[in-house]
Amino acid sequence: MQKTGKWLCAGALGVAVLAAVAVVGMPMFWKSLFLVSAALILLAGIARVAENNPRLLIATLALLALTRPLQSFNVRSEAPPAPQSSGAHQFTSDWATMHYDLWNKTLKELKDKPGIHALEIGSYEGRSAIWFLENILTDPSSSVTCVDIFNGSFEAVFDKNMAPFAGKVKKIKARSQDALKTIGAETYDFIYIDGSHRAKDVFIDAALSWELLKPGGILINQR
Ligand SMILES: C[S@@+](CC[C@H](N)C(=O)[O-])C[C@H]1O[C@@H](n2cnc3c(N)ncnc32)[C@H](O)[C@@H]1O
Repeated sequence: MQKTGKWLCAGALGVAVLAAVAVVGMPMFWKSLFLVSAALILLAGIARVAENNPRLLIATLALLALTRPLQSFNVRSEAPPAPQSSGAHQFTSDWATMHYDLWNKTLKELKDKPGIHALEIGSYEGRSAIWFLENILTDPSSSVTCVDIFNGSFEAVFDKNMAPFAGKVKKIKARSQDALKTIGAETYDFIYIDGSHRAKDVFIDAALSWELLKPGGILINQR
């Protein structure tokens, strides 16, 4: 009886850790480690108690099977880090958030380094450029050049959104195919292409961008 109590306590501890992990945002590695340990403690407790009560074991397994979609959601859906913005930005569309995770992985070697320069083709209201500024180009000596035709009222939104980053943003109002030809070779550490999505334009933007990348630079093409 006493032994069973001990195992029940261990099981309860497992549940508590599971709940804590589900709630607290942790990096994926620690989250997985905690989840596996907690699940093992919980299962050990249940198996011990179920020695005298096989129905409990069956019920537990059934519960685990039924909540399977929820478990995978918890582990896999780690939200991409939210941009650490002041919250003062104004956006009407979102073509960026879904890529934060990938950008984090692809650009992690450049993060926080001094003298990193980026080119963005297609900036719209500045959401992706702001993410780069707040998450990769964080050093005061780093910068982003934003090329866009700015053909619409969103230009004013872009200007307002970018005001806090004055000095780190160079705005070029032009068609990319014209603007890129005026920039010197091997200027940028990474280039994000998200302008015209016509196949021919994407192809030309990529070809022109290639020349502007420093050796070993990174070219990201938005699908
Ligand atoms: C999908 S939006 C960019 C979204 C932005 N990168 C973001 O994630 O917040 C595409 C932008 O490309 C611009 N654009 C389209 N064709 C262009 C071209 N040929 N040259 C420069 N900019 C272009 C549009 O004005 C628009 O602002």
